[in-house]
Amino acid sequence: MSNINEKHISELRQQCLKEIEEATSLAELNTIKTKYLGRKGLIRQLFEELPNLSLKERREIGELLNRTVEEVENKLNQKLEEFKNVLIHKEHNFSKLELTLSGNKFYVGKIHPLNKVYYEIIQIFLNLGFSIEEGPEVEKEEYNFTLLNIPYDHPARDMQDTLYLDLKDFSEKLLLRTHTSPVQIRVMLSKKPPIKSIMPGRVYRHENLDPSHLFNFHQVEGLMVDRGVRLSDLKGVLTYFVKNMFGSDIESRFRQSYFPFTEPSLEMDIQCLVCKGKGCSVCKNSGFVEVLGCGMVHPQVLENVGIDSEAYTGFAFGLGVERIAMLKYRIDDIRLFYENDYRFITQF
Ligand code: DAH
Repeated sequence: MSNINEKHISELRQQCLKEIEEATSLAELNTIKTKYLGRKGLIRQLFEELPNLSLKERREIGELLNRTVEEVENKLNQKLEEFKNVLIHKEHNFSKLELTLSGNKFYVGKIHPLNKVYYEIIQIFLNLGFSIEEGPEVEKEEYNFTLLNIPYDHPARDMQDTLYLDLKDFSEKLLLRTHTSPVQIRVMLSKKPPIKSIMPGRVYRHENLDPSHLFNFHQVEGLMVDRGVRLSDLKGVLTYFVKNMFGSDIESRFRQSYFPFTEPSLEMDIQCLVCKGKGCSVCKNSGFVEVLGCGMVHPQVLENVGIDSEAYTGFAFGLGVERIAMLKYRIDDIRLFYENDYRFITQF
């Protein structure tokens, strides 16, 4: 008996649409599609019976079957879209709400320990009313040495220490400054006393690298020239500096020393921060460590720049920024400042 009548088709159609409506997964939807529209599917099969019908019936039933297939396909597609939307939604919510996913690690930048100390040093002298002056890193030999009263035969002029520039066409001998003291000369040549300045900057020396030497490092120079400037002014300013830099309870002392551009010349020591003055390997059991060089500006240096040494006196000092940072943070290898090892530079 032929199954192919309107009632049967209508039942199949309803049953199929109901199943599609109730489907809860893509897999289920696929099964339904095969069940009804597959090659041996319940609806598809009916097409094979069409040739057994009369011409009139064939047209009517054929049309009905075509409409039914179209309707079922539409319904299937519609349901498929619904599933897709749900999936997209799920994915979307997933990235928004997946709280157990580990986040991206990010790093907060920090000021390099050397810059930190550099700014601190400068700020202390700004608080005392010093101005900031700067000079070039490529310097005239005359300013780096001659006018600073460093004679031709002084060991500091030796090629071992100084990096000279090989500029044959240039009439003057140029070099990479070995200290910030030539900026003293520049300031005194361009300004009349009273002068009260610090001169921070980078300096260069022909050195082999080791835990306490680099071929370039930083200094802060200080200079005060006026009528009646005395050694006690120098001591007062520098004692204020070390107390602000290392702590108000820090002991300090001045020792006699020698620099060609100062007379008298002194070196300043502070109490060893490691053993608090008791004596240890860092301070070689002396209880003190050296922090800077200083002195009264040599009268010859004042005369060299056209300042009357009978009327004016001055004091000067020069300190190494890396050295101050090493003392302050107890760093035992100067090279660490330039390696940019994240584990090192984030400790300060
Ligand atoms: N220029 C010296 C150096 O590089 C440091 C220094 C010592 C600077 C004494 C001064 C000073 O102004 O008075 O070793």
